[in-house]
Amino acid sequence: MARTRIPLLASVLLLVFPGISQAGQPPDINYQVHCQGCHVPDGTGIPPEVPSLVADMGRFLQVEGGRAYLVQVPGTSNSPLSNADVATLLNWMLETYAQASLPADFKPYTEAEVAVYRAELLLDPAARRGALLARLGADPNPGL
Ligand code: HEC
Repeated sequence: MARTRIPLLASVLLLVFPGISQAGQPPDINYQVHCQGCHVPDGTGIPPEVPSLVADMGRFLQVEGGRAYLVQVPGTSNSPLSNADVATLLNWMLETYAQASLPADFKPYTEAEVAVYRAELLLDPAARRGALLARLGADPNPGL
């Protein structure tokens, strides 16, 4: 009897433990572990394959759909991070790398907002990115 319970206990621990081990890392550490391999330590990326966060990340907040895009892009959405950690990480990235393009009325992401955006799958990130930037090019300050 005890023997059959050991595998069950092990799988329960495996299910629970990864969540616990991911939670609560500071955003700069999460960036180093999960993002900077592509986005590089200073956020300038590896253009043209990996876009520069410094150049464009804040601009997406100026266009409808851009706020969702920053969450739904695969690097963010498919990371093993919790919604709370994603919110903290994106806020940190925007404040650290995208200050120059950050709208004055920037409202930090919340865990609940990330959960809503993350539930929607973005099938073609490159096409969405292009469409958002094209909209920005047409009107750099929509809504102002
Ligand atoms: C394997 C490489 C890779 C990793 C790792 C990666 N990204 Fe990205 N990221 C990209 C690419 C490529 C794009 C451009 C959009 C696309 O094609 O997915 C991008 C775009 C983005 C964007 C939108 C910026 C823009 O200008 O389009 C954000 C925000 C972002 N990534 C956040 C993250 C976060 C947060 C992490 C870590 C949790 C991460 N990425 C990890 C490759 C990566």
